[in-house]
Amino acid sequence: MTKKDDKYDWASIDHVIDPEHYVNYLNTATAIDSFQSYKKETYSLLNLREGSSVLDVGCGAGDDVLALAKIVGSKGRVVGIDNADTMINEARKRIKGAVTQIEFQVKDAHDLDFGNNTFDGCRADRVLQHLEKPKQALSEMIRIVRPGSRIVISEPDWETLVVDMPKRYLTRRILNYFCDKCRRSH
Ligand SMILES: C[S@@+](CC[C@H](N)C(=O)[O-])C[C@H]1O[C@@H](n2cnc3c(N)ncnc32)[C@H](O)[C@@H]1O
Repeated sequence: MTKKDDKYDWASIDHVIDPEHYVNYLNTATAIDSFQSYKKETYSLLNLREGSSVLDVGCGAGDDVLALAKIVGSKGRVVGIDNADTMINEARKRIKGAVTQIEFQVKDAHDLDFGNNTFDGCRADRVLQHLEKPKQALSEMIRIVRPGSRIVISEPDWETLVVDMPKRYLTRRILNYFCDKCRRSH
């Protein structure tokens, strides 16, 4: 298969020329204070307790799974799924020393392949925008959580992104790029 030289194809990272670029991007983004802050809010909205089980859909390099593991403790279970081997391999390297039951699996968000009512919570952070059929993925997320559980989904609104710099032409080009390229058009 010919590899794609695309720096923004989150749907099929394993098929681009430089998959490590995507891991590096996530490392940089996750370290930003504002990212840390909204991510913490998504954990809290899940309303998890010690011993809860939770699924992170499109878990990327797995940092959110590790954070969730601290919340649910040694009796809990946290599973991260991602359709990219590159991400799951990277995430598995980061588990070392964790006491919670953590699993990373290569799976497609459109077909979660877990039984009905398996988890006490489910999240997807900046994933649905990249999916061919986000409604199908959402139905799957609803199916695999127990009744009364929470599902937390976070996505950026690219159309309201603000770039504060004096070069108007370049600013417009950057904003248009993000709006047009950083998500699928549904
Ligand atoms: C922008 S990253 C976000 C990663 C992680 N949720 C985070 O916040 O750091 C999008 C992730 O979704 C994954 N992804 C894209 N399409 C997917 C699919 N059909 N099924 C599962 N994961 C998918 C990508 O491989 C990537 O790791």
